[in-house]
Amino acid sequence: MDAPPETIERARFLRQQIDRYNYHYYVLDDPLIPDSDFDRLLRELQLLEEKYPGLVTSDSPTQRVGAAPLAAFGEIQHRLPMLSLGNALDDRELEEFDRRVRERLEIGGQVVYAAEPKLDGLAISLRYEAGILVQAATRGDGMRGEDVTQNVRTITSVPLRLLENGWPDVLEVRCEVYMPTAGFEEFNKSALEKGEKTLANPRNAAAGSLRQLDPKITAQRPLAIFCYGFGLLSGGDLAPTHSAAIRLLPKWGLPVSPELQCVEGLTGCRDYFQQLAKRRFELGYEIDGIVFKVDDMRQQRSLGFVARHPRWAIARKFPPQEKTTRLLAIDVQVGRTGAITPVARLEPVNVAGVTVTNATLHNAEEIRRKDIRVGDRVILRRAGDVIPQIVRVVHGESDSRAPAFEMPAQCPECGSDLVRDGDGVVLRCSGGLFCPAQRKEAIKHFASRRALDIEGLGDKLVDQLVEKGVVESPADLYRNLTPEILAGLERMGEKSAANLCDALETSKDTTLARFLFALGIREVGETTAHSLAQYFGNLKDLMNASMEDLLVVPDVGPVVSQHIHTFFRQTHNLEVIAELKSAGVRWKDMEVPRADQQPLAGKTLVLTGTLSRPRAEIKEQLQLLGAKVSGSVSGKTDYVIAGADAGSKLEKAKKLGVVVVDEAALESLIQSGVLP
Ligand code: IVH
Repeated sequence: MDAPPETIERARFLRQQIDRYNYHYYVLDDPLIPDSDFDRLLRELQLLEEKYPGLVTSDSPTQRVGAAPLAAFGEIQHRLPMLSLGNALDDRELEEFDRRVRERLEIGGQVVYAAEPKLDGLAISLRYEAGILVQAATRGDGMRGEDVTQNVRTITSVPLRLLENGWPDVLEVRCEVYMPTAGFEEFNKSALEKGEKTLANPRNAAAGSLRQLDPKITAQRPLAIFCYGFGLLSGGDLAPTHSAAIRLLPKWGLPVSPELQCVEGLTGCRDYFQQLAKRRFELGYEIDGIVFKVDDMRQQRSLGFVARHPRWAIARKFPPQEKTTRLLAIDVQVGRTGAITPVARLEPVNVAGVTVTNATLHNAEEIRRKDIRVGDRVILRRAGDVIPQIVRVVHGESDSRAPAFEMPAQCPECGSDLVRDGDGVVLRCSGGLFCPAQRKEAIKHFASRRALDIEGLGDKLVDQLVEKGVVESPADLYRNLTPEILAGLERMGEKSAANLCDALETSKDTTLARFLFALGIREVGETTAHSLAQYFGNLKDLMNASMEDLLVVPDVGPVVSQHIHTFFRQTHNLEVIAELKSAGVRWKDMEVPRADQQPLAGKTLVLTGTLSRPRAEIKEQLQLLGAKVSGSVSGKTDYVIAGADAGSKLEKAKKLGVVVVDEAALESLIQSGVLP
């Protein structure tokens, strides 16, 4: 069945819009519409194409998500070989490169280089014919690569059809497919939660994702591209310089690195390298060096190639982010809330400029999956400020290995039993504040900058105070720390003891939000503490709040409300609060808390009869406006909202003289917050 003309027109319009939004989102980094709107347009196009398969075109944005799995990748012969780059591992090697270039070109002055980051991903060649993506190939051996067209089509920053015009009829662009760091971390986080295999690093992740036989898997991976070069071009060079040619690409929809810059001579190269090295971990994607290319195309041609490297380009490498070292031991650490985390103790090794001796191992499941054992040689990886990780074990060094690691059954700090948390993955010490490790962490948290901000009370000092039994709870900080006691501690002079006493005094003047955060209630971070303080205005009302009351507070969900409710029903917590207050910790209550400013604060409503929306939904909206929604009508009821066929509750309301309103009034109430 052929599609009617208006449907053909609609599909064309949708494709054009979707391409435009994709371009703004992926190339310009400047989304025009929310994701949900975008999804709706894509869905509409998918439905039209399902109904009229004749509408499907190979460049339709819907083709990014769905093609059938391939049995194996076909082979593609590159029309122009895909070369690799020579490396400069230090400044001297870069200097030699520049010298060779100037000698060969026989020029006295400086060479202009195009400088760009060397992305750590997978090289791909894209072929466009008449503006349509017809082929995508991996580098393979440089002469022949794998046909990954179907998979590359699923990458949203790859245009399936070039935008605008002016492109050559045959355009081969060389680009790097990479996985942005955020996408990589998110992918691994959710894989860990689901107990699935994690990806070792963004580079492997990009390569592994692209070489999936099922394009549907590739489509789920957050991949992106940057274009940095050319293959075959009908009509020859696009511009007289490399940088000018690359800068033509974005307007056709092909992303290029925003870091591309022209620099002059060796000094320019060095400066650029220094600058980018500083920002290396802020870019949002991994780079392993800088590529310098002679910018002038005529000069490039006269320099030519040696073996498989161009003489006109070099990769100045950064220190690697992965190193091998030996695992000396696996310890377990107890966190503030009792969560037990295994930590790797390593033979010290310098990774990307920092000496690493510890790495997180997340949980027992992770250790089991990677089969990590004490004594193994391991690949260690450090990405910027992220805590170093063990990627995998290097096998084949020795046959005899230590036995597999087992988590202890008791807390190594206090001997209490370890219990599995709700989700089963986290092990927790059941010792609470009896456990010295949890006590130390709780006190460090209490004193930290965003909590009570006790200046000069550092981690080492807290450890000492807890170990010596001077401080057992936060209140002890105010009761037991006299200048004499402090001055008797290690690394504590009279002067710093006096300063700390002053800081303790100053910290007593605080805010309710800081105090709540400082208590260390599970899942109550700074934002939630702030919302709670705003909403209740004083501690007493918060302490008396029911789980339902708590749910009304912005960003408090069922889990958090449970934690808060439980916290304030434990005697030892109430004691700590009372002790802190009597030690002089104080704050100003809010005169009119947000709860009382809400339009329906203090009002009790009852819903009855058949309403046009789910009752739970209406209830939630009313609670957000501050109302109490009750199940039965009484003298305390302020309003009854009656839908169709309301029965006994309506009768009772009338008898008691309670105001009854219909659903229309309810909707206008929810919209405006004003009562009828
Ligand atoms: S130019 C003939 N520029 O590095 C020169 N390569 O070792 C071809 N790469 O296979 C490469 N970022 O995968 C060039 N800005 C960049 C690059 C880059 C990453 C990769 C590419 C290539 C390898 C060369």
